[in-house]
Amino acid sequence: MLASRITLPEGLLPDRVSCIISNQLAPDFALLEAEETTTAAMVDKRRREFVHGRCCARQALANLGYPDCPVPVGEDRAPVWPDRVVGSISHCDGTATAVAAHIENACSLGIDLERCEALDAALMPMICRREELARLDGDERERLLGKLIFSAKESLFKCIWPEVRRFVDFQEVEIRLNLEDNSYTARPHAADLPAGLFEQVQGRIGQTGGLWVTAAFRS
Ligand SMILES: CC(C)(COP(=O)(O)OP(=O)(O)OC[C@H]1O[C@@H](n2cnc3c(N)ncnc32)[C@H](O)[C@@H]1OP(=O)(O)O)[C@@H](O)C(=O)NCCC(=O)NCCS
Repeated sequence: MLASRITLPEGLLPDRVSCIISNQLAPDFALLEAEETTTAAMVDKRRREFVHGRCCARQALANLGYPDCPVPVGEDRAPVWPDRVVGSISHCDGTATAVAAHIENACSLGIDLERCEALDAALMPMICRREELARLDGDERERLLGKLIFSAKESLFKCIWPEVRRFVDFQEVEIRLNLEDNSYTARPHAADLPAGLFEQVQGRIGQTGGLWVTAAFRS
């Protein structure tokens, strides 16, 4: 059903997580009725990325034994997965990805794709905390890694969303990248964000087809 010339980095998520990435939307793919309801106001580009994300989600769910299962949009814009399934969707520059797992195998998941390019200089202090900027200081890849931190925060946000249910500002979270083993850890800097939740998150980083890929997994 789905063709792709790229793959997700090996070992990004445990084998029990169904992972799909695609840079070529299947021409015969169609949304299901429950997914169509939210698309009326979408401009073409937005509709294309939404459809592509749903196509990946459909395939990820089929791999878990849920063929032809819709993934509607929740009130909070988060995708609504079938009972006892968790998952996440991301899209960037014509590539889409979706990950899904049975609840017995993962409490929550987050995935994010971003262009593998330097983060805008003006955005660096908005996205990165002081400690993060200090760690990047003097590194020639400073703004490229700034973009990676941005992606890590977005995958983390999607993973913790079911627990926190509020917008989390980029300054409220500190990411520590470990480029040796392609992982990241996260720590909250807000009184109402539970440190224990963040300790449960395993953050992973990688690259494919000119994109940063980050994933967050809670078992
Ligand atoms: C929600 C958000 C993370 C989406 O990221 P993005 O880079 O804009 O876009 P992506 O393509 O990576 O992801 C979009 C998908 O995320 C999913 N999504 C949207 N809101 C979500 C939420 N609250 N929880 C989980 N997933 C969500 C949707 O599936 C969406 O795709 P769709 O609308 O086509 O279904 C981002 O828009 C946002 O609001 N960020 C602010 C909060 C944040 O990241 N804080 C960082 C500190 S923890």
